Amino acid sequence: MNVAVVGGGGREHAIVRALSRSSRVEKLYCIPGNAGIAELAECVPIAATDVLAIVEWVTSRRIDFVMVAPDDPLSLGLVDRLEQAGVRAFGPSAAAAKIESSKAFAKDLMRKYGIPTAAYATFDDAELAKAYLRDSALPVVVKADGLALGKGVLICETREEAMSAIDAIMVEGAFGKAGAKVVIEEFLRGFEVSVLCFTDGRTVVPMVSSQDHKRALDGDKGLNTGGMGAFSPSPRYTEALAKKAYETIFLPTVEAMNREGRPFKGVLYFGLMIDGEDIRVLEYNARFGDPETQAVLPRLRTDLLDVLEAVVDERLDEVKIEWDPRPAVCVVMASGGYPVEYAKGYKISFGALDPDAIVYHAGTARDRDGDFVTNGGRVLGVTAMAPTMKEAIDKAYANVRRIDWKNVHYRTDIGKSAL
Ligand code: AMP
Ligand code: GLY
Repeated sequence: MNVAVVGGGGREHAIVRALSRSSRVEKLYCIPGNAGIAELAECVPIAATDVLAIVEWVTSRRIDFVMVAPDDPLSLGLVDRLEQAGVRAFGPSAAAAKIESSKAFAKDLMRKYGIPTAAYATFDDAELAKAYLRDSALPVVVKADGLALGKGVLICETREEAMSAIDAIMVEGAFGKAGAKVVIEEFLRGFEVSVLCFTDGRTVVPMVSSQDHKRALDGDKGLNTGGMGAFSPSPRYTEALAKKAYETIFLPTVEAMNREGRPFKGVLYFGLMIDGEDIRVLEYNARFGDPETQAVLPRLRTDLLDVLEAVVDERLDEVKIEWDPRPAVCVVMASGGYPVEYAKGYKISFGALDPDAIVYHAGTARDRDGDFVTNGGRVLGVTAMAPTMKEAIDKAYANVRRIDWKNVHYRTDIGKSAL
């Protein structure tokens, strides 16, 4: 089969790598891909959000299957357009992707169907939002309704911070249209787990659990980023918790989407907050998470294409999905200054790496000499697997230290909370 993956970051590199190991994949494409992905797939220089150009390119070639990974093309209806054009495509429809692209929609869905989440109120008027915040409990969480590159969530310790969050999002338009509406939410305590599930709208199969590290600096300090690393599994996510999450959250969410006439097919990502026995939904994503995927997919033993096809064909119940029991750790290597301001174009030097260490490219290019150079905020993700989490961490960092460029930045505590 000829398969195309849409997207161009570390997550897409992990998806492309998994698909490249499928015996049934003849030719792999990635739209637009990146310099690292180009070693495994032919990269097609079309932006992931250019729905019309992608549909035109796909239909003018013999492409049998398209996997759409990022949130924007999903919410723009790329999967709908591909299906209308007769192409089999993996990912939710735009109607179903709304579970991620509108936090207000997601919260209302959970309220309507009794799915546990933080208490909240929604506003499209800044003055009303501020009036509500005058006597809300603190800390309080202010969220832009729409897609904001994972940066639209502000945890406010004081009333002043909460008021300025409203000004920034609703008045100054820090996140553009995504901030026309806000969700104001109760602050939850506990530990976070990400559970990505395959679902065809009938069967729900959770993947192994994971956890990402959103802050830029060690000890969860500094600004929120797209993710500085991840590990899998989360040792605190016990079987009892997994069973409860499946029964009270995963299945009810998929059933709720069916009842709303927005059947969800694809990967549904549950960001959970767990406090003792209490499990609540922090967020839904309509796709594989980044960088969780870079820690989860290396553990998948089943042919990824078999799973993706089963989702599209609504026969996920027929597939047995198997996982490598060994923990995996992914350390993200970023450009110094990320997520604010950073330079690009520094030559990356690679020392002798362990043969089984995986280097995912998130933001790289090739210079005139054909060498890899930095080309983004997050540059690489280095993943290692080992019999124990401690060994996986040590192995990931041993390889990270053999890679270098000017002003490289990475956290030194990825996975520490799992020990
Ligand atoms: P979200 O994009 O909604 O997952 O929010 C990003 C991050 O903000 C989450 O991973 C949590 O760390 C934090 N967060 C979001 N909502 C809450 C909440 N209600 N209470 C505590 N932390 C939250
Ligand atoms: N790691 C969270 C996300 O992919 O949005």
